[in-house]
Amino acid sequence: MREAYVPKAVFYTLPVVIDRGEGAAVQDVDGNIFLDFAGGIGVLNIGYSHPEVVEEVKKQAEKFLHASINVIQYENYFKLAKRLCEVTPGDFQKSAMMVNSGAEAVENAVKAARRFTGRTEIIAFEGAFHGRTLLTMTLTSKVKPYKYGFGPFAPGVHKMPYPYCYRCPYGLCRETCGLHCAKRFEDLFLQEVAPEDIAAIIIEPVQGEGGFIVPPDDFIKELGRICDRYGILLIADEIQSGFYRTGKLFACEYWGVVPDMITTAKSLGAGLPLSAVVARKEILDSAEFGQLGGTYSGNPVANAAALKVIEIMQRDDFDDKANMINKLAFERLGAMKNRFEIIGDVRGRGAMIALEFVKDRVSKEANKDAVQKIIRNAFAQGLILISAGVRGNVIRFLMPLVITEEQLMKGLDILENSIEQI
Ligand SMILES: Cc1ncc(COP(=O)(O)O)c(C=O)c1O
Repeated sequence: MREAYVPKAVFYTLPVVIDRGEGAAVQDVDGNIFLDFAGGIGVLNIGYSHPEVVEEVKKQAEKFLHASINVIQYENYFKLAKRLCEVTPGDFQKSAMMVNSGAEAVENAVKAARRFTGRTEIIAFEGAFHGRTLLTMTLTSKVKPYKYGFGPFAPGVHKMPYPYCYRCPYGLCRETCGLHCAKRFEDLFLQEVAPEDIAAIIIEPVQGEGGFIVPPDDFIKELGRICDRYGILLIADEIQSGFYRTGKLFACEYWGVVPDMITTAKSLGAGLPLSAVVARKEILDSAEFGQLGGTYSGNPVANAAALKVIEIMQRDDFDDKANMINKLAFERLGAMKNRFEIIGDVRGRGAMIALEFVKDRVSKEANKDAVQKIIRNAFAQGLILISAGVRGNVIRFLMPLVITEEQLMKGLDILENSIEQI
């Protein structure tokens, strides 16, 4: 049926068809059990089918599935907006709006940033992933498969190198670079775009699709200073890094710089399509009545799930869960790095952890082939892994944070074995 009726462009990573999922495990339609280190690409931080979330979803579904917030209003939209304003960093008045997908949240953040500042230009980063719509595909920095043949792209977008210290875009080394990547902004302003024309800088606190790259804290501080100096809004795209993935509810809580706007999605809705923009109140308020919205935006069933997700994650100390994964995984991955020359880098924050594979550690030539083979080997042993990175040579961990210690260890055993096999 897939081959006959579904376009091949709708990609899949592994030939597995799910029947049911629980926690961090999946059973396929043939009865095979898999451990899942992909979590629906970072959507299932709370695990598959969390019983309390399912209960809330059922309760809401029995009342009404949809009303359209732009026609008949419903309370859980307001409650979720309030909750998101409370739990996001920033000691200032905020407001929040819900939409359906990560890309849609980013689109709305950019719309509001332009409306508020009266400026048109947006700065994004090389290696970024912000979505697949025209604007977010433009903000995204991976040509194949995401952009190839889909141009022309949206105007008003400029790219800067992301501080990817393992492969410094300037060939420098962190200890002595003097934060050259931040200094390059002044060149951009001289040669490419006036800072007074820039509405916003959008950045992933940990680059997701780009390969789980954590920028140096000093870079972010410098970015904050640049934004303050020129009245540019700072947008943290937390769509992949949010909801305790990095050990805090939002990864930008590590920054010491408070973003003006946050986009969130994925694990917010525990699997139901939901995203949000949370921003300084005056930013979203700059758009006039009717300028923001959408038929399905802030679906009541998804909102019910999200309210429960936030409650459970705070109650059940999901920060501890991410930190436990960090501690156990880094110990094992460090040992694997000592064993296997093809592991060039082990990095991450909290449970947002990745391994970068190279042909050798001196040339650092990307080893995409190894990643594909490791993913296949792991799959044959019951572990679901996914790749990342502009060069496709990174394996990233997005396992549900509810994974048990035993499951985590089992998964890491399979990973080690899969690397050994090649
Ligand atoms: C950081 C980031 N932004 C935006 C998106 C786009 O989200 P969606 O696929 O829900 O449109 C993603 C998806 O992976 C993402 O990781």
